Amino acid sequence: MPGINHFLNIDDIDAKTLKEILAHAHELKKLKFNPPQLFKGLSLAMVFDKKSTRTRFSFEVAFKQLGGHTIVTSMDEIQLTGAESIEDTGQVLSRFVDAIMIRMSDHATLKKLSENTTIPVINGLTNHSHPCQIMASILTMEEKLGPIAGKKIAWLGDYNNVAHAFVQASEKFDFELTLAVPESLRHKADKRANLVDTAEEAVKDVDVVVTDTWVSMGQEGKAIEIFESYQVNSKLMTLAKESAIFTHCMPIHRGEEVTEEVLASPASVIYDEAENRVHEQKAILAWCLADTEVNV
Ligand code: CP
Ligand code: NVA
Repeated sequence: MPGINHFLNIDDIDAKTLKEILAHAHELKKLKFNPPQLFKGLSLAMVFDKKSTRTRFSFEVAFKQLGGHTIVTSMDEIQLTGAESIEDTGQVLSRFVDAIMIRMSDHATLKKLSENTTIPVINGLTNHSHPCQIMASILTMEEKLGPIAGKKIAWLGDYNNVAHAFVQASEKFDFELTLAVPESLRHKADKRANLVDTAEEAVKDVDVVVTDTWVSMGQEGKAIEIFESYQVNSKLMTLAKESAIFTHCMPIHRGEEVTEEVLASPASVIYDEAENRVHEQKAILAWCLADTEVNV
């Protein structure tokens, strides 16, 4: 339905709005011990068809700290995985709650859900993208390095949902993103992606080195040999700026996409990034619910 602030994909939202959401997240983090009760009387449904630690906890903490109520369920506990349609699920949930945060594999189904609700739908990760994660990553980069515009960022490894959201974000937030991805996967990349052959080329003089698991959820059993030269290790980090940071959305497969040494080094900001999911989620939810009448 037009006019609803769905948060499905970075590409769908204009740059000015995204920058406002990011600025609000910075502000809400400063208010973490005195959170404004923006969601008093509101309910958020959270539905998962895949595992989650960060998304699950950070959305619940964020919504509750700002005064709201949450209902969490896995997909296989609701009628959607039986015979009930996505259309009916969307219409019915719209009568119960004020927003839906959902993690599901298929992005087209997520979109279809959003077309059949009268409330905002938030993408908690699909096979296509992970926009909430990227907003929290950028929040972390800004905290550590200052404004994101003009910064140089290297992505190494798989071209996956997180990489794709980064490519979308680079256009909106004006940062320079270089991706080193195995040749056999490059056909999957967005046309806008700046792809290079080697990890060494990608990380040269960058401000941020980013990676993610080589085996995303649902790809278990996949061969990982093609990624070996894309591992983030201490030697590779020396090619980045001296002040460079290392980020990762987590969960991490230690010794695969990144070494223990890098994770233990001062460059690693992984736990700050995880915490920032809470602050960023508050700002995303506030934008989604900006026009929702508070029922108290
Ligand atoms: N980064 C992230 O989304 O983590 P979870 O899968 O634990 O939610
Ligand atoms: N690319 C990973 C991200 C997990 C947060 C996955 O989809 O499993």
